[in-house]
Amino acid sequence: MGLQEALCRAIAHSRFQIGDFKRGLRVRERLRLRGAVVGALLTAEKSNCLPKLLKTGLVLHAMPADAMIECEKLTKRFGHVVAVDHVSFKVKKGSIFGFLGPNGSGKSTVIRMLCGLLEPSDGLGRIAGFDVATQTDAIKSLIGYMSQKFSLYDELTVYENLMFYGRLYGLRGATLAKRRDELIALTHIEPYLERRAALLSGGWRQRLAMACSLVHKPSVLFLDEPTAGIDPVARRELWDLLFEFSSLGMTLFVTTHYMDEAERCSHVGYIHMSKLVVCGVPDDLKTMPIVNPPGTKRLDVTCDHVTVGLQAVRHLPGVRTATVFGQSMHLLLDEGTSEEFLRAELAKSGIPHADIRPIAPSLEDVFVALTTNRKNGNGQ
Ligand SMILES: Nc1ncnc2c1ncn2[C@@H]1O[C@H](COP(=O)(O)OP(=O)(O)OP(=O)(O)O)[C@@H](O)[C@H]1O
Ligand SMILES: [Mg+2]
Repeated sequence: MGLQEALCRAIAHSRFQIGDFKRGLRVRERLRLRGAVVGALLTAEKSNCLPKLLKTGLVLHAMPADAMIECEKLTKRFGHVVAVDHVSFKVKKGSIFGFLGPNGSGKSTVIRMLCGLLEPSDGLGRIAGFDVATQTDAIKSLIGYMSQKFSLYDELTVYENLMFYGRLYGLRGATLAKRRDELIALTHIEPYLERRAALLSGGWRQRLAMACSLVHKPSVLFLDEPTAGIDPVARRELWDLLFEFSSLGMTLFVTTHYMDEAERCSHVGYIHMSKLVVCGVPDDLKTMPIVNPPGTKRLDVTCDHVTVGLQAVRHLPGVRTATVFGQSMHLLLDEGTSEEFLRAELAKSGIPHADIRPIAPSLEDVFVALTTNRKNGNGQ
């Protein structure tokens, strides 16, 4: 492991931001505080280059300002298909970045480029300052990747899969046994250790895949649809794990089609037809003018026979969009459309009572508004 990689890894594992280390000459002092960081410093000291490095600040200044993942106009073409088109964003250390978009929009392709598995056709990708196209060896030790397609060995048991992945990452003997046991405890997979991976249910397969992707203690973890097809309790438990990792300084990059998961992310990016349409904090995105067009309001209408109610209101004058959410409808209306008018129209369809209240847009509303806007040819 090179010096820059060792320092970067150690800092990535600490709870500090890289900016903390760049400030002032107290770098060495601060680094001493953390066991993991001390390890990296010892490597540096052994190579006799630490004083020089600290004097010049070369290593620290080569690192990005707290961005663990960076894309600049990242592009991938497969023949005539442009799968990823000039995508740019940054993900801060320790944050949970949710990457959303319809099927085939380019999410997995972005991940595969950032993991150094696919060469970008154009643009740049960096992990902890390392170029994904040219510094793949450094990147491999920093990242974990839980792919969308299953990467476990079906004919091996849970235990054997864990041991196999451990060895693949160079762990041996007591170190391997310790890490294996940590991962078993973390994912609570002990009851299934002797079961063949092929025979696990979807949720347990996902947990095993996650355990395998964590074997080498990565600083950045890519999870491509980790919760697809698993039950709500397993989803929540998996997210609890992600929050735990994030609190320890790990940077997480998660793709999902679930809006409730997107709401849990510190930042989200939305990609549509290979272009990044928007990127930001969920609450900020909900205040975008495109989601709240001037002269409109949003209402939640809860009533019996909600699907009948939907048919009754969706084509009324002043109703711009109408969508069912469980027992209620979410309506985007012209400001002048009155509640009395809606109640009267619902009554005509045999729905005499409706509970109507104003609501803020959801993330789903944000993505629907942005997608519709692009389909109408207004996207940039
Ligand atoms: N190796 C490849 N060769 C040719 N085309 C590819 C290849 N990999 C991906 N594509 C195409 O690139 C586009 C983006 O695919 P990608 O798998 O990144 O989408 P995605 O957003 O992950 O979709 P999903 O939500 O279904 O997983 C698609 O049109 C896909 O068919
Ligand atoms: Mg995908």
